[in-house]
Amino acid sequence: MSRLVVVSNRVALPGENRAGGLAVALEAALQESGGLWFGWSGKTVREASGALHEAQEGDIRYLTMDLSRADLDAYYNGFSNRTLWPLLHFRLDLVDYDRETRGGYGAVNVLFADRLAPLLREDDTVWIHDYHLIPLASLLRERGIGCRIGFFLHVPMPSADMAAALPDHARLFSTLYAYDLVGFQTLRDVERFQDYVRLFGGGRVLEEGVLEAPDGHRFRAAAFPISIDTRRIADQARQAVTKPTVRLLRESVKPRQLVIGVDRLDYSKGLPERFRGFERYLARHADQKGGLTYLQIAPISRGEVSEYQLLRSELERIAGHVNGQHAAPDWTPLRYVNRNFAHTTLTGFYRTARIGLVTPLRDGMNLVAKEFVAAQDPEDPGVLVLSQLAGAAYEMREALLVNPYDLDGVADAIATAAHMPRQQRIERWRAMMDYLRENDIDAWRRRYLAALRAT
Ligand code: G6P
Repeated sequence: MSRLVVVSNRVALPGENRAGGLAVALEAALQESGGLWFGWSGKTVREASGALHEAQEGDIRYLTMDLSRADLDAYYNGFSNRTLWPLLHFRLDLVDYDRETRGGYGAVNVLFADRLAPLLREDDTVWIHDYHLIPLASLLRERGIGCRIGFFLHVPMPSADMAAALPDHARLFSTLYAYDLVGFQTLRDVERFQDYVRLFGGGRVLEEGVLEAPDGHRFRAAAFPISIDTRRIADQARQAVTKPTVRLLRESVKPRQLVIGVDRLDYSKGLPERFRGFERYLARHADQKGGLTYLQIAPISRGEVSEYQLLRSELERIAGHVNGQHAAPDWTPLRYVNRNFAHTTLTGFYRTARIGLVTPLRDGMNLVAKEFVAAQDPEDPGVLVLSQLAGAAYEMREALLVNPYDLDGVADAIATAAHMPRQQRIERWRAMMDYLRENDIDAWRRRYLAALRAT
């Protein structure tokens, strides 16, 4: 089997907290064929020398690169997170386009290409991840790299018209044509990409997943819904309920039921709407409003970007307002926590909860939704309330699906979930769990790599 080379902005280095399913899955893939994981070191330096930090674990070599402060500001805080992130999450209102940060994004991709190209062998399989590195394959091709290169977009592909609102969009999106396989989370994303290619990209859509670039070169686009390590999370959750932190939470909520949300503090997650939806529930069910306690864990993310700072203040205001309106001397309806917890602890929290609230305004997939299900007690499972606008909604049909903009709908779903009979909870949970056992993170990377290696 050819050597696998994974490239991503963030690299899960050995010895770091690699609880995330993605890191584990990619490691398993790298371990199988021997491999290399290449990316940013997570550090900034005054003057980037381009020197690579090296680590090794088993058959996997990790090579990471520092970035200068200016490069990071333009490439990561700038174009990736102030232009592409909102664009790809259907938020044209938040897109901030700037030729300088666009230039910095290109420059860092060139830096990656310059460092990576000399390390590649003819029969390598290269797998590049996410929106930070869209142009990388085309830059590698310019440097004479002919091996198989695949891309996976972890976030949504917006509609063609939205994508075309990006100044100079063709220069960016046409670099996707340099890949042999472009993977998306859902079929809808693939369809939106095909629309873009036809309507704005000068290309053609041929049969079944095959696209043709304007120069006649052919490549593939297909859906590979990402997943979780289902069995591991189920085991973890079962054990985690005895952990002191999890016990404390359980005791502190009694005799009420726990509602839980866990999201990076990001405007795509629909947190203000979710808080308001919960408030709507409290207002409309005044008789039983003491019955639920909602814990929202929202670790600070991308704190250097102004939209994230604004969101943080907004959430502090709404949380204060909800509690001011509805709290009792011995009860806080909304517990809002910015710190992060060990992944295992979170699985224990999920198992403790009666309701999981996952209501993003837009999400590529959303793995919290899947992890919440995997963590449940089969005898007495909780209910997942899931946004129709998350990729996960295409697979998790037995969740209570809601439109996150419809606050009354969210309030109703919370009420339905709170009163759902055990038998119905078990039936819904079983259907989703069976699916997740079959379609776990290993299945995801195997399917993707098989498709890439078959091109
Ligand atoms: C999303 C993106 C990932 C990114 C993660 C955390 O899931 O798809 O590429 O790594 O958010 O964001 P951060 O900016 O901290 O890497």
